[in-house]
Amino acid sequence: MQTALITGASSGIGEAFARELAKRQTNLILVARNDTKLQQLAQQLAEKCKIQVEVLVLDLSQPAAAKAVFETVAEKGLTVDLLVNNAGFGDCGAFADRQLHRQVEMIQLNIVALVELTHLFLPQMQQRRSGAIINVASIAGFQPLPYLSVYAASKAFVLSFSEALWAENRSSGVRILAVCPGPTETNFAKTAGFPQSADGAAVGRYASSEEVVLEALQALEKDQPTVVTGGLANQVIVNLPRLLPRETLVSAVEKQFRSLGTRQ
Ligand SMILES: NC(=O)c1ccc[n+]([C@@H]2O[C@H](COP(=O)([O-])OP(=O)(O)OC[C@H]3O[C@@H](n4cnc5c(N)ncnc54)[C@H](OP(=O)(O)O)[C@@H]3O)[C@@H](O)[C@H]2O)c1
Repeated sequence: MQTALITGASSGIGEAFARELAKRQTNLILVARNDTKLQQLAQQLAEKCKIQVEVLVLDLSQPAAAKAVFETVAEKGLTVDLLVNNAGFGDCGAFADRQLHRQVEMIQLNIVALVELTHLFLPQMQQRRSGAIINVASIAGFQPLPYLSVYAASKAFVLSFSEALWAENRSSGVRILAVCPGPTETNFAKTAGFPQSADGAAVGRYASSEEVVLEALQALEKDQPTVVTGGLANQVIVNLPRLLPRETLVSAVEKQFRSLGTRQ
């Protein structure tokens, strides 16, 4: 039986990965900070799907957290066949008005922990000549997003990093996939502090986490480097940078997202 380690498994897209992979008879290692939610999910999936589920309660924005994940997995004698680097958050508002520590925490979680976990688990996969890493990026990674500037830049990093690793690993037996969801119904908007009134107007249709996960797993099976989930509107958005001068595009996005900049 294969084992998947999923970060940010206590809600949203990470939880949907856990539920779908459990259905597919994959043992799970669930990582996040909310102990109660993780324990409830673990118990439910273990009983329903007859799989092994481990819970690691950790704040991945802490500098030593990725190493602690790796060491705990090794101590338990587990092998990770699929790593899903999903934990992440955004923080909307004008950059200078936002708290610096929150931006640094975001970089630590969205980028540093993801790079560290990838660097820790990838060599074992290469040695076994099998395994996969799914990095959850976003359609936000395809262009700058005023009022979500650090978040979009963090997802541009994840996208670029993952595609580069996909190419490096083409003949290694290890698959790497960047998943780029559009707006998805999760706790993301609330955590990011989207003003209620601005929500729909700025970001458009919300997909479900389950849709994102099914499209991601399908793309992984085909060994695609990248998948933009959620249909035509998201495909159009990610292709705009090819069609418009950068200045025109970022100015248009600034207008569309201006309501997010009103947050203090
Ligand atoms: N929803 C969207 O519209 C959307 C679109 C594109 C990309 N994404 C990306 O999808 C990924 C999942 O987000 P989501 O939409 O599912 O939002 P979510 O429901 O808020 O889930 C975020 C997950 O990350 C975990 N997490 C947050 N901070 C953490 C930390 N410091 N250490 C460990 N775990 C932490 C949360 O668990 P705890 O609070 O229990 O730690 C939760 O399980 C993120 O990378 C996000 O950027 C989301």
